[in-house]
Amino acid sequence: VSRRNFTIAIDGPAASGKSSTARAVAQELGFGYIDSGSIYRCATLLALRQNITEISKHTDDLVAMILKSTVEIKVQPSNSLNAMPSLGRLAVPEVQVLLDGEDVSGEIRKPEVNRMVAKVASESSVREAVLGIQRSMAARAKTRSSQNQSANNEGMPEGVVMDGRDIGTTIFPNAELKIYLDASAMARAIRRWDEMNNQLKDTKQQQKQQKQQQQSASDAQKAGSTTEAPTYPSVEEIARELEARDYADINREHSPLRIASDAVVIDNTNLTFEQQVYTITDLARERMGIK
Ligand code: DC
Repeated sequence: VSRRNFTIAIDGPAASGKSSTARAVAQELGFGYIDSGSIYRCATLLALRQNITEISKHTDDLVAMILKSTVEIKVQPSNSLNAMPSLGRLAVPEVQVLLDGEDVSGEIRKPEVNRMVAKVASESSVREAVLGIQRSMAARAKTRSSQNQSANNEGMPEGVVMDGRDIGTTIFPNAELKIYLDASAMARAIRRWDEMNNQLKDTKQQQKQQKQQQQSASDAQKAGSTTEAPTYPSVEEIARELEARDYADINREHSPLRIASDAVVIDNTNLTFEQQVYTITDLARERMGIK
């Protein structure tokens, strides 16, 4: 018996909050989630590991590597409140990205990958290979979503939320709901900076705890009083990097970032996280005929 299908495409520029929004929307609706950017990031990692830096000269090799590899996006449903207060009372599931079975979730977010990914994503043959991966991942995620939905969710379509740059325009031009999420460059840079700071604090906290466990009490005191050198970029630097990436994504020849004519544009510069998530889930329920 074929069930109804529902695809939500969320597109928008870097750091517009697509990924956390898409994850929270997927959890709220019991849908699957796919972060299409992570597939391009995995492709970039494959290139970096082979020391391929001049992407345009090695696209055939890169495409062959992509088609030979497997990328899995594992969503860990979350019941607990997220550590980030800005997310309000919504739980945002964690996502693990596996490349040929190896957990590369951390590695694909490194600066080397950030700097090269737009170049990799601008190659048409790479995009074509990734398109196939995206569509088959979505089909699998939808089936899983219907298996995971509890009995009281009966009547709910099989669904998937996918975020990226060209989901509503190219990958799923017939998606039942298309969202274009935007925010001012400064708002996006500040959020990314906050995120980096939080991660850095967590890492430092972990390192400190490890040190304290290893050292004597007096040594531990010394470790605690070390001055914290800021090793993260400034908001202005992040804003510049985001703008460079926006420019590359908007101006590339193949499948550039643009707003689908039937997309709902949400500028979240002045919205809370909950407001934007519920705006999307309300729209989705309305279109599914479920209140
Ligand atoms: O969303 P992200 O920052 O993880 O995306 C990384 C890069 O991948 C970004 O520079 C643009 C590219 N990308 C794309 O071209 N198309 C998509 N659907 C998703 C990402």
